[in-house]
Amino acid sequence: MTIWPAVRSSLCFLILVGAFLCQPQHLSGQASANPLTEQQVRDKASALLKQMTPDEKIAQLSQLPGLPAPEFRENVSQPMEEILKKYGAGSVLWVSDPKEIDRLQHVAVEQSRLHIPVLFGLDVIHGYHTIFPAPIAMASSWDTKMVEGAQAVAAQEARAAGIQWTFAPMVDIARDARWGRMVEGAGEDPFLGAAMARAQVLGFQGKELSAPDRVLACVKHFAGYGAADGGRDYDSSYIPEEEMWNIYLPPFKAALDAGVGSVMSAYMDLNDVPASGNPWLLDEVLRKSWGFQGFVVSDAFAVRSLTTHGYARDNQDAAHKAFTAGLNMDMASGVYLKYLPIELQQGHISMQQIDNAVLPILETKFRMGLFEHPYTDESRLEQTLNDPTHRQMARAAVQRSTVLLRNEGRLLPLDKNGKTGKAIHSIAVIGPLGDAQDDLLSMWGAMTKPGPTVSVVQGIRDKVGSDVSVAYAHGPNLTRQFPSPFEGIPIVPMKEQPAQTPQEAQQSIQDAVALARRSDVAVVVLGEIDLMSAEYASRSSLRLSNGQQELLEAVAGTGKPVVLVLINGRPLDITWAAEHVPAILEAWYPGSEGGHGIADLLFGDANPSGHLPVSWPRSAGQLPLYYNHTLTQNPETAPNFKSRYWDLPSTPLYPFGYGLSYTTFSFDNLKVTPTARVGGKIVGETSVGGTNKGTNKETIAVSADVTNTGGRAGDTVVQLYIHQRAGSASRPVRQLKGFERLTLEPGAKRTVHFTLAKDELQFWSPIEKKWTVEPAQFDVWVGEDSTAKLHGEFRLTE
Ligand code: NOJ
Repeated sequence: MTIWPAVRSSLCFLILVGAFLCQPQHLSGQASANPLTEQQVRDKASALLKQMTPDEKIAQLSQLPGLPAPEFRENVSQPMEEILKKYGAGSVLWVSDPKEIDRLQHVAVEQSRLHIPVLFGLDVIHGYHTIFPAPIAMASSWDTKMVEGAQAVAAQEARAAGIQWTFAPMVDIARDARWGRMVEGAGEDPFLGAAMARAQVLGFQGKELSAPDRVLACVKHFAGYGAADGGRDYDSSYIPEEEMWNIYLPPFKAALDAGVGSVMSAYMDLNDVPASGNPWLLDEVLRKSWGFQGFVVSDAFAVRSLTTHGYARDNQDAAHKAFTAGLNMDMASGVYLKYLPIELQQGHISMQQIDNAVLPILETKFRMGLFEHPYTDESRLEQTLNDPTHRQMARAAVQRSTVLLRNEGRLLPLDKNGKTGKAIHSIAVIGPLGDAQDDLLSMWGAMTKPGPTVSVVQGIRDKVGSDVSVAYAHGPNLTRQFPSPFEGIPIVPMKEQPAQTPQEAQQSIQDAVALARRSDVAVVVLGEIDLMSAEYASRSSLRLSNGQQELLEAVAGTGKPVVLVLINGRPLDITWAAEHVPAILEAWYPGSEGGHGIADLLFGDANPSGHLPVSWPRSAGQLPLYYNHTLTQNPETAPNFKSRYWDLPSTPLYPFGYGLSYTTFSFDNLKVTPTARVGGKIVGETSVGGTNKGTNKETIAVSADVTNTGGRAGDTVVQLYIHQRAGSASRPVRQLKGFERLTLEPGAKRTVHFTLAKDELQFWSPIEKKWTVEPAQFDVWVGEDSTAKLHGEFRLTE
């Protein structure tokens, strides 16, 4: 190691908030010696294809499961090594041990006839060794540069371990918090979702995919998975075409535009046709409309599941339907390996079709430089995984993604050294997630090769040192009523907390209350263990489960100041806390440096700046809930019809985009002006306050002044929303069309500029059946969340 990175590390440490500016040197993405040109990639792949037998080609269309369990072997009786030697394989998944990866690669490259390397795939979703906050948290930062930097670290660590392909980003729009996989995506909004998708693809793949510290990204789950009926994982989605184009598809398109190399098809039925055998999705949209040139892999066993869905007659029919719909690679089910040779023999599919499916896979392997560098360089592994800048970046990510939901009487930040005259001498950390480690990583973070995790209680202890006493009481244990099928699977080391008798649970609450009474302040850490908010982790209510609500009320009942820290993957029902608990921090699953990042925020060494990427419901009864709904005949703004429920307001508890800071910001001086004249389709007269200027322009410029009106430096996320007042379809009350995160010193003012052009103004019209920009009057708002008040308007004319 040279001195420079060490110096750079300590600099980074000093300016943690700016940690993402200090990317480690080796992340600059040095390309492999001679990256191939696109022409060379195509020539080499076609030349190789010509030498391949049908069986070798079909093996490239198969991803072999790296787990020995018999249920994974239903269609593949031969051991993996035998297949690798005889035919090779497109890919192997779920092998995470670098030594085993390297051994298998040696078998494939040295013992197969054509020496084609295998692509090793794993779910490196928000880190491999250094686990960053879960995707919903990263989206709460609204910080695309940070997200890109974090995924570059994930790529670097994974690649050093031999993993070349990650099944991320997950970009499913989620409007229903009952769905357990909301945690894996960027929330409910297509514009924010697209920005996060783009940033992640750039982070994983870099500019040069053949660089030794990059991995192939795989955008998933194509498409509509987040709309599962009732929020029940894997259940059918029914999504009209206009909603697909306007809401669910934009993040996928953004990933494609950023150059994503692969796409994963989803599990569920989309409008009665399973996504993994859906020609509209895989051919019409992906290839014909968007011109995608990479390859599509199914979700795990999804090809075999076409039979279970009642879509295919049997597994051969499943292979036929998936393959002819446009699915290149079968993840784990072995159905392609077993039945595509029969399909070919029987003339149901042609060799040309097989070649078309295989080519993008071979091209990807050439593009990545795998033929030149198939093996793992183990000497780089330890140094890469233990690079201290990675953990600094992870800590800064916690600071930037945690959302302050409430701070009555400015309880936060806590004063550990008496500067405010309210010095704290003793802290009670309470709750079943207060000492959690693995649970801070969420399901995928726990599955790779995570380094040590800092719990909340540990983070607080490290922060306050020996001057303040910190004691911990666990409270009741967290268990699911129906266990997760993932518990016990070897590569997923997640477990529930042990079951308790009602007496034990009660006693744990009493112990916690006694501790709170003896302390100056209680930090209560509640939420969901990782198995409660993940795949196969949908729930019918959003309650603080397992007696956590009772615990919170009992601790608050002591009269001591209470800070609620939430560790979870979805909004929970905190309506009681929102009235009775003075301070609430939403930390999501914060990853390896969770405890440190949270302590930085609790004690004011960092200023909260996360903003919600979802509308926060009052209870599960409001779901699905999203801010960008249409007006209807009884808009919320009408004088009488305030709520559609007689027992609950229709509004969320906290709106989309919401988040507090220890400082405050004001927004004023909104200006809307037409810019650059072009003669294109958008011709506009714009006006503020209704005065039309009568000019023809293609883009609309919007600016507003933002001032830090409080007493300390802080970040805010300036958000721009629009509304089209009339057109060929009803348009949402508001739609996010721009955002910028910025830092302001106390008293400082900045003018923020946005541009609205065709991409922001168009929508897919159910009447026109195409994308359209329509002459209409538009509203525009700028502010800190989706209820922003600062308003202007403009008009587009024919
Ligand atoms: C199933 C999940 O749905 C998907 O997200 C994941 O990438 C694959 N399994 C592989 O682990």
